[in-house]
Amino acid sequence: MARFIDELKRTHHCCALRAADAGQEVVLFGWVGSYRDHGGCVFVDLRDREGITQLVFDPDLKGHGDAPAAAYRSAQALRGEWVIGVRGFVVSRGTNNNPRLDTGEIEVHVVELTVFNKADTPPFEIQDAIETSEEKRLQYRFLDLRRAPLQRTLRVRHRINQVVRRYFDGLGFLELETPVMVKYTPGGARNFLVPSRMHQGKFFALAESPQLFKQLYMVAGFDRYFQIVKCFRDEDLRLDRQPEFTQIDVEMSFVSQDDIFRTMEGLVFGIWKEVLGIDLREQYPSGRFPEMPFEDSMGHYGNDKPDLRFGLPHTDITGLVIDHEGGAIPFWKEVADQFTSGRYRRDLPAEIVKAMRIPAGLAAKLSRAELDKLEDFVKGMGSKGLARAKIDADGNWAQSPLGKTITPALRTAINAQTGAEEGDLLFFQFGKESTVQTVMANLRVHLGKKLGLIPASGHGGKFEFLWVVNPPLFEYDDDKKTWAAAHHAFTRPHDACVDMLETDPGKVLCHRYDLVLNGFEIGGGSIRLHDPAVQARVFRALGIEDEEARAKFGFLLDALRFGAPPHGGIAVGMDRLAMLLSGAESLRDVIPYPKTQKGTDLMTDAPNRVSPEQLAELKIRTVEPQS
Ligand code: AMO
Repeated sequence: MARFIDELKRTHHCCALRAADAGQEVVLFGWVGSYRDHGGCVFVDLRDREGITQLVFDPDLKGHGDAPAAAYRSAQALRGEWVIGVRGFVVSRGTNNNPRLDTGEIEVHVVELTVFNKADTPPFEIQDAIETSEEKRLQYRFLDLRRAPLQRTLRVRHRINQVVRRYFDGLGFLELETPVMVKYTPGGARNFLVPSRMHQGKFFALAESPQLFKQLYMVAGFDRYFQIVKCFRDEDLRLDRQPEFTQIDVEMSFVSQDDIFRTMEGLVFGIWKEVLGIDLREQYPSGRFPEMPFEDSMGHYGNDKPDLRFGLPHTDITGLVIDHEGGAIPFWKEVADQFTSGRYRRDLPAEIVKAMRIPAGLAAKLSRAELDKLEDFVKGMGSKGLARAKIDADGNWAQSPLGKTITPALRTAINAQTGAEEGDLLFFQFGKESTVQTVMANLRVHLGKKLGLIPASGHGGKFEFLWVVNPPLFEYDDDKKTWAAAHHAFTRPHDACVDMLETDPGKVLCHRYDLVLNGFEIGGGSIRLHDPAVQARVFRALGIEDEEARAKFGFLLDALRFGAPPHGGIAVGMDRLAMLLSGAESLRDVIPYPKTQKGTDLMTDAPNRVSPEQLAELKIRTVEPQS
């Protein structure tokens, strides 16, 4: 082994050699990919992270004494994934080239071979497409990561990191770190806790984001901060959520919301250009992404992260239903009566009615059986069913129980508001607002895929960005019957809304914003509340007493009293960005060592039990789960 590596240094990686290199003596290192023994020669595809080079072990290779024959004999023992080094000569394959390989014009005729290491037979083949279960791939992640698709994805992450650092450095941002072990504060995402050995019975929390610390950097005068940072959240996992994930975290002083948007747009344009070679200016000539008020997003799409690659918007017809006192439809009468019956005292309707119009051309693609399946789909989300109507030539509602009952006046009004015409299909949902919104939002995306308007997964070559802006500062907590911060208590309300903090909290809008791409929230942030007087009023509206505020956020409140500049920021979910950009289906495909859906690491078998001694040292006693 000493000869290779010590004396024979690698001359090229496995994707470097071309016809012009014919005749050169080269030294290559890598893994044995495919292996064939025929015609008295051994052929090996040698693989490294850059690509593949074909090696030929020919015992009769002239001009090198006995060495090629010895190399050939050793090569006969080679097996997949052995790690080898070779010295040999580049030979042009002429017309016998392999156009599927970058190095297909040449092969390397080997004079000298060394085996650095043998390998057990891998549990799955190291190939682009494999059928193996995800569990097995995660258990042997180091082998999975050898496969070209994952190698490409991790390179994408590397590229993104480099663009981020160059971009922000160029704009005068400082890359500053923040602690991972922080004080636990209630609210927000659930934290992972870290027991303190030195202060028994006390705990740190793993930071769910650097939020408070980046604000303190602004108070400290650092002006422009960014960090590519790990965050930790003990949440239920989904395809787009991991317990440990990475943010591109940003905070700026003396800026407006629009300044932050411009900064982030510049970053995204840069990433698309450098990583995908796509100039987003062709799609967004002004260099700006569109903005949509939160209210419109909820109204037309049922959530605050609409996928704008396709249409099928919703229409909120609650107002019409109320005006027409339910239009003779019993369930809708209940919705119309919600205020007069005294069931809800807020001025915002708690029950709503929404419609979604499927234009005739698309509606024709949905068979009766498929429509029934859609009914099952919505029932799976807690809906009672999927009322529907087919519009006939006279504007009547055919194939619909609603059609027989509804007053002509309400039907005509709904047709007009939704734009429904002959052959179109209308779907309806009514009831509790949150259920209606979720069901309609998911139904829209489901139909988008079913009708071929977007692919089942991946971007399909389309990237639709959107800023969702001006959401309400508070949400009403129906269980506790109080207002709660929709995001966090340090978001700045619109100046014009400040006087409604006491009188009409539900109507207070704020400077919070989300960046959405193809139906995923890829970033979120806000302009912060730096004025202690308004801050105190927000806490009062939330029913947070001074003492409680001090206990939760004491250090930030202190800091805000010592000359806090106006500031704001945003964090982009780096993993989601990488997933959407590379067309991957799940965050697990773009995170090198991800956790499973159940929050475990199958490769290292974490989390695991620790010894009674370790627990005793921490003064922690565990309770065995009851089986
Ligand atoms: P927020 O909680 O919206 O904001 O998070 C910012 C972005 O991080 C990504 N993200 C996640 N990605 C993977 N797995 C998760 N579990 C996960 N949770 C969030 C999303 C999201 O848009 N401190 C604020 C930012 C600010 O106000 O400046 C924050 O963390 O893409």
